[in-house]
Amino acid sequence: MLDAIAQCSLLDDVTMEDPTTLSLERFIADLTGKEDALLVLSGTMGNQVALRSHLTAPPQAILCDRREHIIQYEAGGVATLSQALVQPIDAKNKKYITLEEVQAHAVISDDVHACPTRVISLENTLNGTIMPLSEVRRISAFAREHDIIMHLDGARLWEAVAAGAGSLKEFCAEFDSVSLCFSKGLGAPIGSIIIGTKAFIKRSRWIRKSIGGGLRQAGIVAAPARVAVEETFLGGKLTQSHENAKKIEKLWTDLGGKTSYPVDTNMTWLDLEASGVDLNTFITTGEQYGLVVRGGRLVVHYQIGADAITRLSQLFKDVLKGEAGDLKKNEAKHDPEELKLKDKGVE
Ligand SMILES: Cc1ncc(COP(=O)(O)O)c(C=O)c1O
Repeated sequence: MLDAIAQCSLLDDVTMEDPTTLSLERFIADLTGKEDALLVLSGTMGNQVALRSHLTAPPQAILCDRREHIIQYEAGGVATLSQALVQPIDAKNKKYITLEEVQAHAVISDDVHACPTRVISLENTLNGTIMPLSEVRRISAFAREHDIIMHLDGARLWEAVAAGAGSLKEFCAEFDSVSLCFSKGLGAPIGSIIIGTKAFIKRSRWIRKSIGGGLRQAGIVAAPARVAVEETFLGGKLTQSHENAKKIEKLWTDLGGKTSYPVDTNMTWLDLEASGVDLNTFITTGEQYGLVVRGGRLVVHYQIGADAITRLSQLFKDVLKGEAGDLKKNEAKHDPEELKLKDKGVE
């Protein structure tokens, strides 16, 4: 990635002259089967620019799963930027929303009292859980029938594809816009991208500029992003992180620990409370094993290796069975309050 950064072009991307950036956008559009693509700085920027591009005339509403990033962790952007009402749904199966739930909550009406659903936004994976292609297709068919726009927060869609849930093209075909992140499981230092029709991307470029997201020397963002897609995603490195997430889950549950979600991809969700483990004790004990754990949400990436898993295994035995391992040191550098993510915008 460093080599790619050193060798990238440094022309102006606001005026669309930078070859490294334009070539990444073409590459991703082709890979996903869409007409065009636009590099953005973050997943949040991708979602918010896409939604703002779609939503042009209030009254308008976005229907989505209540847990989605676009409404929980994006600083209320759908209200401030898009002037949209949110119609949140609780997924009864605790994994993903279904067509029946969408039908029950969508507002399809031109009654003067109503706020019509203009966008259905899905997230895949959500908390590491895969929404099956079959359910996406059912919801998308319903949306098309009622002229509702489909957006996907696909920050982690790579993981669903790597797990065999469907191809990138198959998933993306069901949406008018998709945002994809380079900096999560793929390991690029920065950057995300949105995809859609040429007209949608033209408008998104405008919106991106209006919020300060137009970069001059964008090549240094685009170059490592391309390496991340080619080497980590296309190179097949995600599968190992899924196997490791399952391994970690098994280490935990074999000792009697409980989990909050099944492991479909690269996230393991330890339910500390249900397992009788105090969060602060977990964090402090983690540090004693040389691990920075910030809660029960463990996200595995392809560079997490055997050493980390050995340390986790000793940590689990310690907190669940009271058996200290040989890697345990006395000191923990931080107050657990500094490290814990609970109440800081992450589950
Ligand atoms: C599903 C999902 N969407 C969007 C984002 C936002 O990405 P960023 O932190 O780059 O704004 C995240 C971040 O973790 C995410 O998990």
